[in-house]
Amino acid sequence: NRTPRLFSGMQPSADSLHVGNYIGALMQWREMQQNYDAVFCVVDMHAITVPQEPELLRAQTRRTAAQYIAGGIDPENSVLFVQSQVSAHAELAWVLNTITGFGEASRMTQYKDKSAKQGSDTTSVGLFTYPVLMAADILLYDTTIVPVGEDQRQHIELTRDLAARFNSRFGDTFVIPEPQIQKATAKIYDLQNPESKMSKSATTDAGVLWLLDEPSKTAKKIKSAVTDADREIRFDRGAKPGVSNLLTLHSTFSGTSIADLEAQFEGKGYGDLKKDVADVVTAEFTPVRERTLELLDDPAELDRMLSKNAERANEMAQKTLDRVYDRIGF
Ligand code: ADP
Ligand code: NA
Repeated sequence: NRTPRLFSGMQPSADSLHVGNYIGALMQWREMQQNYDAVFCVVDMHAITVPQEPELLRAQTRRTAAQYIAGGIDPENSVLFVQSQVSAHAELAWVLNTITGFGEASRMTQYKDKSAKQGSDTTSVGLFTYPVLMAADILLYDTTIVPVGEDQRQHIELTRDLAARFNSRFGDTFVIPEPQIQKATAKIYDLQNPESKMSKSATTDAGVLWLLDEPSKTAKKIKSAVTDADREIRFDRGAKPGVSNLLTLHSTFSGTSIADLEAQFEGKGYGDLKKDVADVVTAEFTPVRERTLELLDDPAELDRMLSKNAERANEMAQKTLDRVYDRIGF
């Protein structure tokens, strides 16, 4: 009766996490690692399914790992490693490719969306088989639970189908994982464009709160956040998206309920709300930012931590791969 295994991955695709990633991923994971045997993977092999700058990818992979560690992912208790350092991911993905139907892979909506944007001449076969690599990531660790957003549900279904198909063809080998779809309650919106989700690919930097921004810059962005023409501090996503977003940020980091915040700010102005939001966000971010910069300042120590974790991951993954190779006749 072992502790259930959780697997989750993050793309090393920006210099800094933004407050949406921080709340939507990091805070969830640091909580879940208490109750699960957690494996977290910086998925640099997924990142090269679109063209990359080698030096930038290397730097962003380190920075991503450093931010998760600084933000509370415990690399002694949980496993936090870089995907390309465990070769079983590529090896199992190849085997799974051979039992994936071409039509089945063609039906993945994320692939269809991304390839439609890129055009077929620049779309790589790697992008096409991305979900198969993701299935390998999950199945290698005998994962029971995968926390994902709604947009990843189809990929988890494919993972489950591939695991069941392999098991029925070659004998019981893989644990069939369950998705845990994250609740969308703490979704964070762009400060300048509060109708759209905050995203690393936002068109204006002023709308995005980066974990690694200087605290004064964070405060300035919050003070310039778009609100509305009346003065009422009330949560109403439809009519008051900017104010609602500020209340969500406050509530998430202060732990005060939205209703209590509405009462607390009654008769006060948007300037007061923004000042308080800036205080709670920078209070949360500052120690994590400082710890991240410390980790990045000692690359040898960070690399040592990551290679120790890759060894732990490799030991787990190799057992599954050995089982698979034996079953298929290698
Ligand atoms: P982005 O939209 O910036 O490209 P990703 O799609 O890489 O972010 O998401 C990485 C993780 O961060 C996911 O777990 C996702 O649910 C979470 N996340 C991203 N943006 C937000 C947001 N605006 N609000 C809440 N969670 C978010
Ligand atoms: Na744990």
